[in-house]
Amino acid sequence: MATVTLDRIPDALAALKNENLAQSLYDEGKVIMDGTLLVLHGEAHRARRMLEFRVFRRSFFRHYESQVFPRALAEVLGPVVARGGCDLVEFGYRITMNLTADFAGIDRLARTPQETEALLALVMTFSEGATLVHSTRDKEQVRAEVRAALAEFDRLFLQPSIARREALIASLARGEIEEEDLPRDVLTVLLRNEDRLELPPDLLRREIAFYLQAGSHSTANSTVHALHNIFQWMAAHPEDRERILGDPLFLQRCVHESLRLHPASPVAWRKPVCPVRLPTGAEVGTEDRVEVDLWTANRSRDVFGEDAELFNPHRVVAPGHEPFGLTFGTGVHTCLGRDLDGGLVARGAVDPATHAFGIITLLVKALLAAGAAPDPRDPPQRATYTARPNWGRYPVIFSGAIA
Ligand code: HEM
Repeated sequence: MATVTLDRIPDALAALKNENLAQSLYDEGKVIMDGTLLVLHGEAHRARRMLEFRVFRRSFFRHYESQVFPRALAEVLGPVVARGGCDLVEFGYRITMNLTADFAGIDRLARTPQETEALLALVMTFSEGATLVHSTRDKEQVRAEVRAALAEFDRLFLQPSIARREALIASLARGEIEEEDLPRDVLTVLLRNEDRLELPPDLLRREIAFYLQAGSHSTANSTVHALHNIFQWMAAHPEDRERILGDPLFLQRCVHESLRLHPASPVAWRKPVCPVRLPTGAEVGTEDRVEVDLWTANRSRDVFGEDAELFNPHRVVAPGHEPFGLTFGTGVHTCLGRDLDGGLVARGAVDPATHAFGIITLLVKALLAAGAAPDPRDPPQRATYTARPNWGRYPVIFSGAIA
């Protein structure tokens, strides 16, 4: 087997859009990823994506940013600010856990911190399973832990969430409630299954578990990376401090810039379904691997300028490219959570009152408004459980009131 690496933006774009290249990064993580949207190919992928896309409409994102998010944030942020500090990594996981659970359709009926912790522990195990290819631990051991976590998840969270939704779907069929009374989430869409796709119970379980980890892991890590970049930028550029704290459109640029430098997955892998000629001229066959190096492509100087390696929120990006580069992928597998997390890119004059900033910018904004700053007595540490360049601990202290 040969591996061909593509690290230039045009080659990466062409590969991610090539219909003869199928997903292969999660082959090792089948225990959680088998049959999920991200690994499907061709018609099966198109049909599932169309069904699930019903949840990802822009009108819903707006409702989410203005209604669901502030409630979830207040529940988690208030107590940590009152304590005077927190570990950003833990905080990020806790808040994004609740947000992603709402999106996926997993109820937390008790609404206690213990319940969130229990779900979080399960989802951390799912994440490790999905990114098994990058794990530094014994892979068989991780698989056994994922299987146990799936069984526990099914009993504690999934079956009660299914039961509540099935009762509501039956009420709708009897005309007792209206369409708008149904929860708007992935589980409800899959249970109604209006497109009559084949979705056996074990697949449904993996699909929802995949959503929980895809949404929470990436959002939490990206939030910590963004704050780290912003803390460093404010220390080196005090003249931008006021703008960062007071201009949410500039803050969103900071977040997009950080997303560019820290793609949640530094690579995308694809396997050819037939012999393919790549834009570089290389010929690849079904035994080969095409590795799209998102990390390096996002640092292309011809697109992002001579200082592409560095964080610079004033950067001018070449026309036709996203400020966050390929961090959310492109082509048929483009991230479904892109607008939810990254918001819309402000092109030209936009009204901050109605602009969609995305969950990460809103989270960073709330933390900065509470006076979050790195704890000088407890420096941040890198994660050791994965080869991915994430933070393992990031202690911060709060010096202000929530604005
Ligand atoms: C910073 C946050 C996020 C990043 C960087 C990110 C990144 C990505 C990338 C790169 C892909 C494509 C992978 C590939 O082509 O191999 C992807 C797919 C996906 N993402 Fe995200 N993601 C984020 C947040 C989310 C959230 C919040 C959700 C859900 C609420 C989500 C749901 C999905 C789904 C469902 C797919 C599969 C799409 C498909 O295969 O058709 N993501 N994501």
